[in-house]
Amino acid sequence: MLIQGDNLEALKALLPYYAGQVKCIYIDPPYNTKTAVSDHYDDNLEHAQWMAMMWPRLELLRELLSPDGIIWIQIDDKEGAYLRVLCDEIFGRKNFLNAICVKTSDPSGHKTVNPSPYSQTEYVLMYSANRELYSYEQRYVESVYDPGYGKLITNRSSHFSEWVVVGLNQFVAEKLGKKDTRTARKEMGRVNFDLQVAQYALEHADAVFQATAISSDAGREIVEMRDRSKAEKDTVFHFERDGFEDIYCLNGRQIYFYSNKLKEIEGTLVPAKPLTNLWTDIPWNGIADEGGVKFKNGKKPERLVERCIELSSDEGDLVMDSFLGSGTTAAVAQKMQRRFIGIEMGDHARTLCVPRLTKVTDGDQTGVSKSQNWQGGGGFRFYRLGPPVFTENGQIQPDILFSVLAAHIWFAEVGQPWNEPDPLSPFLGAHEGKGYALLYNGILGDKSASGGNVLTRKTLAAIRAAQGDFRGALTVYGERTALSEATLKTEQIEFKQTPYDVKARK
Ligand SMILES: C[S@@+](CC[C@H](N)C(=O)[O-])C[C@H]1O[C@@H](n2cnc3c(N)ncnc32)[C@H](O)[C@@H]1O
Repeated sequence: MLIQGDNLEALKALLPYYAGQVKCIYIDPPYNTKTAVSDHYDDNLEHAQWMAMMWPRLELLRELLSPDGIIWIQIDDKEGAYLRVLCDEIFGRKNFLNAICVKTSDPSGHKTVNPSPYSQTEYVLMYSANRELYSYEQRYVESVYDPGYGKLITNRSSHFSEWVVVGLNQFVAEKLGKKDTRTARKEMGRVNFDLQVAQYALEHADAVFQATAISSDAGREIVEMRDRSKAEKDTVFHFERDGFEDIYCLNGRQIYFYSNKLKEIEGTLVPAKPLTNLWTDIPWNGIADEGGVKFKNGKKPERLVERCIELSSDEGDLVMDSFLGSGTTAAVAQKMQRRFIGIEMGDHARTLCVPRLTKVTDGDQTGVSKSQNWQGGGGFRFYRLGPPVFTENGQIQPDILFSVLAAHIWFAEVGQPWNEPDPLSPFLGAHEGKGYALLYNGILGDKSASGGNVLTRKTLAAIRAAQGDFRGALTVYGERTALSEATLKTEQIEFKQTPYDVKARK
């Protein structure tokens, strides 16, 4: 779903349908950098106005988030600290999970003119709706060869008592016909030689190791083995463990194989390290072409949004971005088989997001398409925001549809989205033993201004016919009631008058 319009109104309109259902929200609001960002939008609000703009929107987003959902908010350091406090207030300090630090572009040419060191970081605040319900599974990112893994067992397949241990650099140098590491580096160039060592280590990862300390907190038997091995120099000790990898020990230290550091990432075995909150591995070069649309200075890398979505949702989940810009979040969500709702106020909703999402549907191959093995498919609907349900002074908009008002009333009463029944009827449904009905807009076929909207014996009979097995107390919304207090009491009906008793969402 792609919506063009101010997200304040759009989010209010979505609440009755999607409250508590969005698994992952990623937003990248204007940073208040005091500039006009490209030709598309101004980013120049007075600080308090910026806060006042963010506050109600974040509150609405919190209501849309599912109980186990996560919201990611990208920001730089102009408003970052204030946003953090605002989010603590709205989501609760205990639900703060992380402040990811993202490396953006490197300094180049005139961009380096700065009154202080060049800023090349942005932040992504990560909050949960309820941290107890979010479970994080360790993720890995590609790293580089760690020269600490500098020893090699030349005969790994032999019995451990016969293992021959040599220095990896020296071994590779000799293999390349050089006398030693120094000569190899001198003749081949340091970078080139080190690359050869890294490659050898990768190809012989179960024979390359580093010797790591064994803590005295390790199990008793392991500590005993460590101490024996310290005393008996240059002898490999072995300890078998049920359900765990065997431990080898040499000169009081554990033989920790390089293979433990390798992980398969995007189909290739590479040295890897656990994902931290410092994201330096996402390239920003080349993002201008992602999705085939230009959005200077505001666009974010698909890889970045992919990581946020991956860490907080599964296939089929609902992902939302209410500051959609050029459509990055929607494009990535689609490629990751998530459902999405994107909201953008600017005309680029039509001129950038629509063409970008059409390309995605047609099998766009830029951005994360390769890592997601994206071949195209699916689709999206484009909406423009209609008039709000309530006018400025809280009156119901006269031409609002029955189903739209019904959804609002249901949501205001029970705080949950309404499942629109087919066919529509004046009985909206029951929740926790109470029933709700709405007489509005000729739902009973009587189009006269007040006819079917008045609670009479006849309209009540129609509601009773529609309510099926339900027998509890009933709240009826209508323009007027013709039933007496006594009848309402015996019928267990609470009458609420439209528009006065319908709560407008502030
Ligand atoms: C930094 S850009 C987002 C860029 C996006 N992440 C991308 O990769 O293309 C912020 C966007 O928020 C939009 N925006 C600002 N205020 C808004 C509002 N009240 N309702 C909807 N969109 C809004 C701006 O028009 C702008 O396109």
